[in-house]
Amino acid sequence: MSRQHWKGSVLLAPVPPALVTCGTAERPNILTVAWTGVVCTHPAMTYISVRPSRHSYKLIGETGEFVINLPTSAMAKAVDLCGMKTGAKVDKAALCGLHLIESETVGVPSIEECPVSLECRVTEAKPLGTHTMFLAEITGVSVEERFLNSKGKLNLQQAGLLAYAHGEYFALGRKCGDFGFSVRKKKKK
Ligand SMILES: Cc1cc2nc3c(=O)[nH]c(=O)nc-3n(C[C@H](O)[C@H](O)[C@H](O)COP(=O)(O)O)c2cc1C
Repeated sequence: MSRQHWKGSVLLAPVPPALVTCGTAERPNILTVAWTGVVCTHPAMTYISVRPSRHSYKLIGETGEFVINLPTSAMAKAVDLCGMKTGAKVDKAALCGLHLIESETVGVPSIEECPVSLECRVTEAKPLGTHTMFLAEITGVSVEERFLNSKGKLNLQQAGLLAYAHGEYFALGRKCGDFGFSVRKKKKK
C-alpha cells in the first residue's frame, strides 16, 4: 500500500472535544478544547493547551483552576458553539442551554449535562508556541449516577461520548474490546 509522508502536524485522532469550564461561580465561562489528555496516573494529571488570546486564558490564569467536562454526541452543537463564540461577549452556558453546578474540589462550576467532569488545579503553565499548556492535577471527578452499574462501576458505553477527528465530530461507535481482553483467559464453565 502506498503512503504519503507529510511534514509534522497535529493530526492525532480521535481526541475528546472537551467543554472546559473556567472563571468563578459568579462569572463562569466555557470554551471548547481539543488539545487535552492524560499525562500521569498517580498523581492523576492532565493538561489543556490554550491560546493566550482566548478570554478563558486570563480566567484560568487568575483562578489556577478549570474543569474538563466530557460532552455527549447530542451536545455536538453546543461544543462547536462554545468553540466559536467568546465568553467576553456572550454567556455561553445560557446560549447553549447548559446548566452549571457546583464542583466539589474547585471553585469553577461543572456542566450538569456532561456525564463526566474532571476538576483540575493548575500546577504549571508552560508556553509552547501558539498555545500555553496548563498542566494540572485532577483533584476530583464527578460522574452521572445513571452510568454506574449496581456495583458502582462506570459504564461509559451508555454515555455516548463525543469524539473529534481532523476537524469533524463523531459519535463513538460500537465497543470492540476492553482493557486486557487480548490476553484474558476465558472463564471455565
Ligand atoms: C472542536 C474545537 C476545538 C478547540 N480546541 C481548542 C484548544 O485546544 N485550545 C484553544 O485554545 N482553543 C481551542 N478551540 C477554540 C476555542 O474554543 C475558541 O476560540 C473559543 O471561542 C474561546 O472562547 P473564549 O474566548 O470564551 O475563551 C477549539 C474550538 C473548537 C470548535
